[in-house]
Amino acid sequence: MEQTFKNIPNEYKIDELLHQNTYLVDGELKEWKGKKSNVFSTISSTKEYQPTLLGTVPDLSEEVGLEALKSAEKAYDRGQGLWPTMKVADRIAAMEKFVSQMKTKREQVVKLLMWEIGKSLPDSQKEFDRTVEYIYDTIEDYKKMDRTSAKFEKNSGVYAHIRRGPLGVVFCLGPYNYPLNETFTLLIPALIMGNTAIFKPAKHGVLLLAPLLEAFQNSFPAGVVNIIFGRGRTLATPIMKTGKVDVLALIGNSKSANTIQENHPNKNRLRLVLGLEAKNPAIILPDADLDLTINECIIGTTSFNGQRCTALKVVYVHEAIVDEFNKRFSAKVDTLKFGNPWESGVLLTPLPEPNKPAYIQELIDDATSKGAKIINKNGGKTTENFIFPAVLYPVSKEMRVFDEEQFGPVIPILSFKDIQEPLNDMAESNYGQQVSVFGSDVKTLAPLIDTLVNLVCRVNLNSSCQRGPDVYPFTGRKDSAVATLSVYDALRSFSIRTFVASKDSAYNNKILQELLDTKSSNFINTDYIL
Ligand code: G3H
Repeated sequence: MEQTFKNIPNEYKIDELLHQNTYLVDGELKEWKGKKSNVFSTISSTKEYQPTLLGTVPDLSEEVGLEALKSAEKAYDRGQGLWPTMKVADRIAAMEKFVSQMKTKREQVVKLLMWEIGKSLPDSQKEFDRTVEYIYDTIEDYKKMDRTSAKFEKNSGVYAHIRRGPLGVVFCLGPYNYPLNETFTLLIPALIMGNTAIFKPAKHGVLLLAPLLEAFQNSFPAGVVNIIFGRGRTLATPIMKTGKVDVLALIGNSKSANTIQENHPNKNRLRLVLGLEAKNPAIILPDADLDLTINECIIGTTSFNGQRCTALKVVYVHEAIVDEFNKRFSAKVDTLKFGNPWESGVLLTPLPEPNKPAYIQELIDDATSKGAKIINKNGGKTTENFIFPAVLYPVSKEMRVFDEEQFGPVIPILSFKDIQEPLNDMAESNYGQQVSVFGSDVKTLAPLIDTLVNLVCRVNLNSSCQRGPDVYPFTGRKDSAVATLSVYDALRSFSIRTFVASKDSAYNNKILQELLDTKSSNFINTDYIL
């Protein structure tokens, strides 16, 4: 494997450092004069390896964190604020203004995605475009929701005008592997439903938000979106301790989600929207089409170096075909190209977390000390910022790689005789997001699918696991998720049903009619938004 340094195309060179001096609170981009943190890329710009300094971000204090919370609370104003009471059409207009400005920043954001988290150029572009599409889809779905509720119902002599209303202040924390997309799939539905938000980006993938701060500032009323930078412990702990956060929206790790929730004094007030870790298995049956299976397993285990919550993180192969699968799969893994994100055809790219290669090496050492072998030639080869995916076989339950979410390039394979073996493991696992099952015999598949759907939330038939398309429900059982995300579901996860009811009487009906005729209420309204 070569060093990652190569001639960097001019358009992707870091000519100037990006010093993010401001944070967004109360509608103002406030200058921070205190401590700053350096943002490094693990990609080297020089022949002799050294991380590249990309810029700096504020290391905000606890006081600023609390100031952001105050700002979000003020904008929500206990439900009386401009934003939560605004007409749906006006909130949509604000969102449309934001997305049209966001689109102008594509180039800058894509370049930073590559440098900050090492995502390949096509995948970085896809992350940006998918996010823009998600915003437009959310707007359309919100209009649909609004149209469906633009009516009165009558049951047992009671009229009801039922809509969905906001929950309050949302604290939003995103992951480093999709620092734009996954964060926005929380933030955008939360905002459009009338909530106000405080958003703190992850440690890696933070500078790429800098080009979007102005768009947030000038598209939404003051205090509706607050963006702060710094350490979780300094900012998140005191914010949660106030008990003023109504929704914790987090995509990341269940341990940090637990720690953050613990700080909230009013557990029943706090709603949770969480996308957490997973250990999605691939189950390969004896009659699987091996060409297709191998291709899907390559995508599933190695896309973005395995740093996806939906990645295939353990592979079960029926003993009748395990030798053939291992031979062909490991040979194919060895053909994957490693390089910098902008190099054409790269599938494997530098790991953004400096300690990740050492962690993956620990998993490999633990597995090999307990009887597994690295079955591909390149497996485990390292550079300063990468470790080539090691295909490990045979893996057993005592090995760390069997149940730790590796979130990186290492592929554990187990063989099975009886389908009950992987099913038992899945039932015992702390996770329950998705599974991929490969095979074609309907008599075997039918009962298997009927069981798998009760162990996870998406069964991928002859296909690798994935979140998209974003209109489909993204959720998980056990420690893998709380609430459901999709364009449709997220609008519901960030809102609550609330309604106006009145007994059918001439007196009440006259008032309702007048409310409708004068259009003086933003809630009691039967107008259609097309
Ligand atoms: O990190 C988890 C992501 O939700 C995965 O999304 O399946 O589209 O890569 P993806």
